[in-house]
Amino acid sequence: MAASSTAIYHATATAPVNIAVIKYWGKASTKLNTPTNSSLSVTLSQEDLRTITTASCSPSFESDALWLNGAVHDVSNARSQACFAELRALRKAKEDRDSSLPPLSTYKLHLISENNFPTAAGLASSAAGFAAFVRAIADLYELDENPTELSRIARQGSGSACRSLFGGFVAWEKGSRDDGYDSVAVQVAPESHWPTIRAAILVISDAKKGVSSTSGMQATVATSTLFPNRANVVVPARMEAMKKAIAERDFETFADLTMADSNSFHAVCLDTIPPIFYMNDASRAAVRVVEEINRCAGKKVAAYTFDAGPNAVIYYDESNQNIVLGALKKGTADVPGWSEKHLDINASLPDGFNETILTA
Ligand code: ADP
Ligand code: DP6
Ligand code: CO
Repeated sequence: MAASSTAIYHATATAPVNIAVIKYWGKASTKLNTPTNSSLSVTLSQEDLRTITTASCSPSFESDALWLNGAVHDVSNARSQACFAELRALRKAKEDRDSSLPPLSTYKLHLISENNFPTAAGLASSAAGFAAFVRAIADLYELDENPTELSRIARQGSGSACRSLFGGFVAWEKGSRDDGYDSVAVQVAPESHWPTIRAAILVISDAKKGVSSTSGMQATVATSTLFPNRANVVVPARMEAMKKAIAERDFETFADLTMADSNSFHAVCLDTIPPIFYMNDASRAAVRVVEEINRCAGKKVAAYTFDAGPNAVIYYDESNQNIVLGALKKGTADVPGWSEKHLDINASLPDGFNETILTA
């Protein structure tokens, strides 16, 4: 039976943010959105940072459209179009196999999406955003593809999005095929493997970044002389070391690698012509606080990492929650620009903590 022109089909999906501990920065192919190096991230709890997207389609819709946080958002770009096309092709194949299915693949799509955290501010909104985009349409189309297959599609929307199709510890393997087919996300370990790992988010600025991730990494690949060594030598070795640290739940090695990779990524940004500055004075104060926490503890109990923006993500083990959050909470009162939005309130300062470093 033909659908009436007023029929509307819809599905809603959520997707979490992931924050990389080994960073993706550089495209091997801008067309396929494949990376110059593999990367690895931790998927955060959806209770804090998440995207929620409702996808609908109807014979009465005249064009594909997206409303992001209440405002119309362009979907004419090649990357959104690639996601639409791939998902429609999978639905079309399903309709060809079963002629009783309504022809949703021929209808225009409307997406309504909301991020409950700052968009384009270096807190991985494109990751949660495109993961939810793909998942909502896949649900609407009742596709059977597994998360790795969906990650191949989400990658084309935003690289980091492929990792948000999984929970826990997730690698995006750069792949070696010319068509990008093996450039997909795989779960390295489920959340249950290391359930005590936590992330504190220090919101330093919710303003839209001056240089988007897409254009920043293209400038770095084109101009940084440090970049080839990072992508080809430093990161491949770090990926292996990070997988081992996660397998062994070795927080100190995890922390050393996470902080070193964040610094290496921001170093190649500084080495870009013209230089790109994502971290600011308040970000650097967060680095000093983490260094001070680790000095007081006599071992690495906290690890900072910064994406393409000034906001800090600080990983720690639940067993050290009091000392880590105590110090960060003190900072939210004292450092201009720090917000305690995602910090626990009932935490105490570590013994011997040097409060004088809490100035940006
Ligand atoms: P971020 O550090 O937040 O990932 P990016 O520069 O990588 O910043 O990407 C920001 C862009 O991602 C936005 O301008 C928008 O185009 C896209 N985006 C963010 N959230 C969503 C969403 N919920 N749905 C679709 N696209 C989104
Ligand atoms: C610093 O995935 O946002 O957060 O593929 O161009 O959309 P596009 O870039 P995006 O880049 C993320 C960069 C990063 C590191 C990371 O998440 O691995
Ligand atoms: Co992004």
